[in-house]
Amino acid sequence: MGTVKSAPGAAIVTPDGGPERPCRVLRVAGPLVEMEYAAGTAMYDVVSLGEAGLPGEVVAIKGGVVTVQAYEYTGGLAPGHSARPLGMPLAARLGPGLLGGIFDGLLRPLSGSGDWLLPGAGATGDAERRWRFTPRVTAGEPVSEGEVLGEIRGTGPVCLRALVPPGAGGAVERIAPEEEHHEDAVVAVVGGTQVRMTADWPIRRPRPVRERLSAQQPLNTGQRAIDLLFPVARGSTVAVPGGFGTGKTMLLQQIAKWCDADVIVYVGCGERGNEMADVITELAALEDPRTGGRLADRTVTIANTSNMPMMAREASIYTGATVAEYFRDMGLDVVVIADSTSRWAEALREFASRTGALPAEEGYPAGLASAIAAFYERAGAVTTLGGARGSVTVIGAVSPPGGDMTEPVTAHTERFVRCLWTLDRDLAYARHYPAVSWAGSFSRDAQILAPGYTAAGDPALSARRARAAGLLAEADRLADLVDLIGITALPDQERVSVLAGRLMREGVLQQSALSAQDSYCGADKSAALVEAVLAVVDRCRELVDAGVPAAAVEEADFGPLLRAREDAGPNDAAGVATRRDAMLAALAGLQEAA
Ligand SMILES: Nc1ncnc2c1ncn2[C@@H]1O[C@H](COP(=O)(O)OP(=O)(O)OP(=O)(O)O)[C@@H](O)[C@H]1O
Ligand SMILES: [Mg+2]
Repeated sequence: MGTVKSAPGAAIVTPDGGPERPCRVLRVAGPLVEMEYAAGTAMYDVVSLGEAGLPGEVVAIKGGVVTVQAYEYTGGLAPGHSARPLGMPLAARLGPGLLGGIFDGLLRPLSGSGDWLLPGAGATGDAERRWRFTPRVTAGEPVSEGEVLGEIRGTGPVCLRALVPPGAGGAVERIAPEEEHHEDAVVAVVGGTQVRMTADWPIRRPRPVRERLSAQQPLNTGQRAIDLLFPVARGSTVAVPGGFGTGKTMLLQQIAKWCDADVIVYVGCGERGNEMADVITELAALEDPRTGGRLADRTVTIANTSNMPMMAREASIYTGATVAEYFRDMGLDVVVIADSTSRWAEALREFASRTGALPAEEGYPAGLASAIAAFYERAGAVTTLGGARGSVTVIGAVSPPGGDMTEPVTAHTERFVRCLWTLDRDLAYARHYPAVSWAGSFSRDAQILAPGYTAAGDPALSARRARAAGLLAEADRLADLVDLIGITALPDQERVSVLAGRLMREGVLQQSALSAQDSYCGADKSAALVEAVLAVVDRCRELVDAGVPAAAVEEADFGPLLRAREDAGPNDAAGVATRRDAMLAALAGLQEAA
């Protein structure tokens, strides 16, 4: 089989020796191109359009007409121009050069120069670049699909592996020595199959695994609102719905920077070009807290910004999932972040309206739900073909127009995900960041993860979570009452509950992405902060029980407690405990005064 190679700046290359069946373009309407049918053309085959060879994909075949979705601007393309079906599906070129690179939705390299993204030089397709290959098998050894043939090291900290491709296996006929190789060099021959460091894979077909496992390990994000209240497991699925400007991009970027995955695939769908360029510049400058290397070296960025052709956006999230599976198969934990799936769904709608398909809800095509599901279903914790454990966690932002959570993209997405982190407009408006709503979010992983915390030496975590959630809910309930009748009309213990809600929100849940000490929060510091608030709340209740007026408790200076998250370093649990003790001592003074 020939390969669909992605060459910088150029269109998709004709397969080596592949069938060539030129047909004629019949009609062009934006990204929708109709052409004559040629024998052998199949659904989802790639088509090269016109002189320029614009890439497109077959999306319908009816009578003698093939409908193609073009992935690039079709200006200049006209009826009568040639069109060549390439006889293979759209494939992504997977290889070690992906790490640290920036690509478009079809995985063609982009360069992030200035504040604009342009087609140009990139990581993959760089014939000069070399990787050190270290063999892990010897000639004559029998190997089966998915097994490790050797390790690949580039500049970054992530150790990659060359694997026996799916479907191949047998005796190792040849294995390259420990040496620097370019990514297209043959590093092994197994049962007659040549193995290179790069391989093509059709983006719409999930890569095979031996077994899907139930997700059981937590993915730590370093964001307290999430790790404490709505934790996510490695291999799970998350949606982050939020209205305009509620902090979706900031939250996802925080996760890309701080979560404890091995590789991050960041897909920017239809986001602003300059915002995307900022992310890339920032990633390049940041140090990876886990490895001490560059954060960019464990990140693959796929950008289809709002200024780029819309239809490649449709492919980009499947491209992202395919890249993630490639790393997962090496036994790595990968996170795919898509910002925003709503912009992606708009591409589906735009194309559907041009084909004249009968629109379903709000103009989206009838296949919207299954397209969303096809993306989230690429997530999972697995045993790879080679027997290693790996995972793909999928996190997608959703931008409901006008903040309407009942609109189709949000409503369908909610059905397919295990965790929902809803960003609340009122919280964002009050500058409570991250604006994760404790009332409107959920995590189906919290239960599953509980035994893991016990094993990891923190059996109290589930209890802390339950208390924190209970306290927030109680404070919300009372807030409505306070609005009606005023705080002074509440019984003293309920006034302490209102205070407790405030301490939990301001002392624990708020976490500025821009803070030097608090942008990331380690598990121990997070636990210490929650425990400090709970201890202070308990002390306040005791004081009120002992006859100290609630008003006096409310007026105490809680500053030392509320500032602990900013004053103590990201992993400084002891620093938090010191501040808690100081706070408790200060409260003891109230009792003496009473
Ligand atoms: N975690 C955070 N820490 C500090 N500031 C934040 C945080 N989250 C959001 N903000 C503030 O809110 C602003 C908007 O955030 P962001 O761009 O992430 O919103 P968005 O939901 O992605 O918006 P859009 O709907 O336009 O995509 C940021 O520029 C920042 O000032
Ligand atoms: Mg955004």
